[in-house]
Amino acid sequence: MISLRKYNTFGIEATADDFVEINSTTQAIDFFSTEETLHKKHLILGGGSNILLRGDFNGLVIKNSILGIDVIEENETEVTLKVGAGENWHDFVLFCLKNGYYGLENLSLIPGNVGASPMQNIGAYGVEVKEFISTVIAVEIANGNIRAFNKQECHFDYRSSIFKTLHRGKYFIVAVHFKLSKIPFVKIEYGAIRQQLEAKRIDVNQIHPKDVSDAVIEIRKRKLPNPIEIGNAGSFFKNPIVSSDKRNELLKHYEDLPSFAVSKVEYKLAAGWLIEKAGWKGHRKGDCGVHEHQALVLVNYKNATGEEIYQLSEEILQSVKRKFEIVLEREVNII
Ligand code: FAD
Ligand code: EPU
Repeated sequence: MISLRKYNTFGIEATADDFVEINSTTQAIDFFSTEETLHKKHLILGGGSNILLRGDFNGLVIKNSILGIDVIEENETEVTLKVGAGENWHDFVLFCLKNGYYGLENLSLIPGNVGASPMQNIGAYGVEVKEFISTVIAVEIANGNIRAFNKQECHFDYRSSIFKTLHRGKYFIVAVHFKLSKIPFVKIEYGAIRQQLEAKRIDVNQIHPKDVSDAVIEIRKRKLPNPIEIGNAGSFFKNPIVSSDKRNELLKHYEDLPSFAVSKVEYKLAAGWLIEKAGWKGHRKGDCGVHEHQALVLVNYKNATGEEIYQLSEEILQSVKRKFEIVLEREVNII
């Protein structure tokens, strides 16, 4: 039996029956080819920053600790890197900046590991990781076969991929290939980035990707709780996508409704805004609560149980449904 508290950023105290760490692709293939592994209930773990342990895990936790960053293709303008699933995401972003490989700056400071980045197609500040992933290499849990998924086969979508839907729990991602630019470019359309750069008196016509990374880091530090200080898993729910009719109906009652067009007929609403309007921002019961600056983030102040956090998420879901007739979907993986 092992405590999982230090393996999940919510800081939930829960145990697992067994725990194993995988350090190489060869080890993964051997491990998943053995009969013994097949029959055990398992949980694959990266940095534990997008899971909620509802209780003890009566099975085997398989921690992915495969390291390594290799250049596998390069020309004057582009590079393709093969990155081990166990590499820390933010360290990898900084490695790219240091080596002059550009594209991932807006995704600075997202917790967790590289192997989980395709899982929910991580995104922030106007960029999604799918733009830079060329291939995902994974080992099939049922038989130890290795398989390469190209971008199309990953079915990337907003906070989703085939690994979170059809193939959920079926593949152990061992490496991800990223195609990055060697020519600096920046994406600063996301309002908060531009404001941050202007506040620092950086000339927006002469920005380097490193400036964007620094700006994103500062914004995130201001807005989101640091899991080392307050347990959390980032946004607990996805931002809901609704029809234009639904959005127009809401706008009649709420002039300040934030919404972003995602197609000609659909809009993304801000779940944090809906939760705040439903009265939950800053709510606290015992050690579990809703963050005071960001209503989309549920927090564990110290000793909340996973079940308490889950029940709070259920209450929020029901209250948003009653008030707005919108059903929120959890982003965090409930274990
Ligand atoms: P884990 O939590 O360990 O795992 C997540 C899921 O992926 C689990 O279902 C697990 O079984 C599966 N999994 C993990 N590794 C593998 C593997 N190698 N093979 C197969 N399955 C695997 N996310 C965003 O998209 N954007 C943000 O801006 C963002 N901000 C955050 C801010 C904070 C403060 C926190 C705590 C979280 C935030 N997140 C954000 C969520 C989280 O950081 C990401 O989802 C991250 O990619 C999770 O990585 P992880 O290694 O911790 O995954
Ligand atoms: N808002 C409120 N009240 C709140 C929180 C937000 O009114 O308590 C409003 C804001 O004023 C703003 C809008 O909601 O108008 C959007 O807020 P914000 O820019 O903070 O972003 P978000 O939609 O809450 C999303 C992602 C984050 C990502 C940021 C930046 C999802 C589910 N969340 O948050 O990702 O970092 O945008 O791009 O898409 C994560 O997935 O874990 C995560 C942190």
